[in-house]
Amino acid sequence: MNVLGIETTCDETACSVVKDGKTILSNVLSSQIESHTRYGGVYPELASRLHVDRCVPMIDLALKEANLSKSDIDLIGVSYTPGLIGAITIGLNSAKALSTALNIPYIGIHHIEAHLYAAMMSSKDTLNFPALGVVLSGGHTLLLKIHNIGSYEIISQTVDDAIGEAFDKVARMLNLPYPGGPEIEKLAKIGDPNAYDFKAGFVKTKPLHFSFSGLKTNVLYTISGPNAKKSQDNLPLQQKADIAASFQRAAFSDVVKKAFKAASTFDCKAIYLGGGVTQSAALKSMFDKENHLKIPLNFPEQGLSLDNGAMIAGLAYHKFLSQKTSDPLDLKAKPRTAIC
Ligand code: KG4
Ligand code: ZN
Repeated sequence: MNVLGIETTCDETACSVVKDGKTILSNVLSSQIESHTRYGGVYPELASRLHVDRCVPMIDLALKEANLSKSDIDLIGVSYTPGLIGAITIGLNSAKALSTALNIPYIGIHHIEAHLYAAMMSSKDTLNFPALGVVLSGGHTLLLKIHNIGSYEIISQTVDDAIGEAFDKVARMLNLPYPGGPEIEKLAKIGDPNAYDFKAGFVKTKPLHFSFSGLKTNVLYTISGPNAKKSQDNLPLQQKADIAASFQRAAFSDVVKKAFKAASTFDCKAIYLGGGVTQSAALKSMFDKENHLKIPLNFPEQGLSLDNGAMIAGLAYHKFLSQKTSDPLDLKAKPRTAIC
């Protein structure tokens, strides 16, 4: 079954063709990062307008790179939640129009569930359940128990900032461009991760939950003094690098510790990680180093950590096998929906 995946929840117009939920025939995207950088984050109205311009060309490119024509597509998957409502609407309406014109079914996909599926689709081994799901993205930080594809239980989540959001905000404090995660990772390579005693938050009543806002404020005070008044412009490069490395160490060691604790508490047989932050090599090596449980660790392959169309197409295949019908044409774009 050839599935066309369309992803427009934020600032990437991404399309892909995936065969039978696993074999990626094409995976293309048009990133809007350059257009949003000057605003220090994603400007929602601009994102919608750029998706209008780019959605059809990206669909055509995905088909071309897969060496297929529209009539070879059997199903369309499209992300319909969570994200920017205007941005999602562009992809969703494109999917509905194409589904109607070609008389093929379409399925609305939960973007976060697709991030989790990305690691499953990359896995060379048979999927092992129950498993721990770890979502680390710009908008979400979640630990879930995965019973099966489509069946999840939330174990914990962030009580304030998402981890990617914290990276983006700290990067801004250090005068680094958006998106901040890769910039912090680059700078951290020449920094001392123990130069500052930063720590992520601890939620007393829910020890597996996450909190990054105190950590973020601690970084701000370190850079700008207790009244946040000192300018960060004059910070020496080495001090910036030490702050980046210490922040990254604090954020990642918290995630790694809680993930392994959850995996053993909930008898998980494997860990599947997803979301933009999982493209970090520093995160991967910390997970590998701390894996005393020797539990199989599955990261998305290159190109499947950040927003992409392949994870949408791949998951749509499984959803269609279980639901067997197209979603109704009145399916609405939703800015927020719980994964379970
Ligand atoms: O999953 P994603 O592409 O978009 C959302 O669904 O939110 O994630 C984007 C996030 C951004 O916050 C970005 O700073 C972060 O992923 N990110 C990283 C790294 N690469 C991307 N964070 C830390 N280290 C990285 N290397
Ligand atoms: Zn995402």
